[in-house]
Amino acid sequence: MTLDPDLETMRGLGHRAVDLAVEHLASLREKRVFTPPDAARLHALVDEPLPRKGHGAEDSLERFFRDLLPHATLVNHPRFFAYIPGPGSFFGALGEWLAASTNPFTGTFIGGAVHAQIETQTLHWLRDAVGLPDTFEGMVTSGGSMANLCGLGAAIHGRCRARATVYASIEGHHSLTKAAAILGLTPGHVRLIPSDDQLRMDVRALRAAVAADRAAGLEAVAVLATGGTTSSGSVDPLPEIADFCEAEGLWLHVDCAYGAAMALLPEGRDLLQGWERADSITMDPHKWFYAPFECGCVLTRHVKRLEAAFDADGAYMQDVPHDAVNFYRRGPELTRGGRAMKLWMLLRSAGTDAIASAVRADVEHCHLAHELLRADPRIAIVTPPRMSMFSFAPKAGEETGRQLVARLQQDGHTMLSSTRLHGRFAIRFCVVNHRTTAADIRESVQRVLDTLAAVLPART
Ligand SMILES: Cc1ncc(COP(=O)(O)O)c(C=O)c1O
Repeated sequence: MTLDPDLETMRGLGHRAVDLAVEHLASLREKRVFTPPDAARLHALVDEPLPRKGHGAEDSLERFFRDLLPHATLVNHPRFFAYIPGPGSFFGALGEWLAASTNPFTGTFIGGAVHAQIETQTLHWLRDAVGLPDTFEGMVTSGGSMANLCGLGAAIHGRCRARATVYASIEGHHSLTKAAAILGLTPGHVRLIPSDDQLRMDVRALRAAVAADRAAGLEAVAVLATGGTTSSGSVDPLPEIADFCEAEGLWLHVDCAYGAAMALLPEGRDLLQGWERADSITMDPHKWFYAPFECGCVLTRHVKRLEAAFDADGAYMQDVPHDAVNFYRRGPELTRGGRAMKLWMLLRSAGTDAIASAVRADVEHCHLAHELLRADPRIAIVTPPRMSMFSFAPKAGEETGRQLVARLQQDGHTMLSSTRLHGRFAIRFCVVNHRTTAADIRESVQRVLDTLAAVLPART
């Protein structure tokens, strides 16, 4: 078996792969969005002897699409409203193919100058599309977690790890705390600042925490604010936090992994106002910019500091031109592929106006779902629509809410997930999918209400 078959076979296999993928995308709406995964059953399904001789690519394609994929959770399904959906897109998938088939090495300029330039250009487009100043430069990362790690790495560069202390809201994403641990901060030196009644960082509590830490001899280094929290879409008071950071000499990192795409809309620009003053920003094009997974990015106004934070050397690197863009110096990885290609292809093919229209539709669909659920007397709204998510709970209480989520997931028609907000159980409804229609929303809400009726304790 050859690893690159003859040209005709390659073309045939490529066409078959595209046909199967297109069939899958075309029938997403008819499929189950979720099947509760059973590890033993999946093991039995996937388990095969080591393929020493190989089954051939045609057989492998069929095996994947016919036997395995039907059991998968479809986070790109038009009725997946749990967590933060990853819709992907066909243009993005084509970009992934460009990267996979040309296999660039984008760790160094010598290995991947063309793709590095494409990556830089793509980030400039993204930056311009959301209205950030042209002082922001950065890197495409595997996702928001890695982007937060890079931003925090730049923030604490040169600081004493044992004394450095950073501040995030209690509603901040767990990747911030994880990044701090990986970067060697003392456990507990990510202060989780309480949030106000709208789930935004309480700036008075932030000021008090910084003052207390300084008085105790610690070094306050950075505030890790969020523009669109995972649980409720809340935006920390960025102008006030930026003022505070400026006055106190603190690095401001703003995690906009979910929220950045809102800045494609005028009202989203207003909502995120102040983020342009950040020292570093996380965005996640694989969420609300509809790029396929493994496409986040970090942008910073201090790219030299980012490069200082992650610089590394070795005799084998001596031919690398050090005055060029070498992405291995902007994050932990050396070998990296054409991660930006899916975003380049998507932005260049569809245009940012089309992406903004899809974001607009998601926001409208979120409002529609909110209106429909709010009208039902058995439902309480926990948080109003913010960006493209809101949350609700059955008035009957948490146990009913839990049963509702579990029953919906068993049912496989509509996928929702739950969280806690100020300690209170809430079911999130997050719309991030250009395939979702108003009819999907109406059907899903009806399914939620019907399922609620089924799980409500029988009246005596
Ligand atoms: C606000 C926020 N930050 C960071 C992340 C982590 O991003 P990723 O899952 O791409 O690593 C998420 C993920 O949902 C998020 O919502």
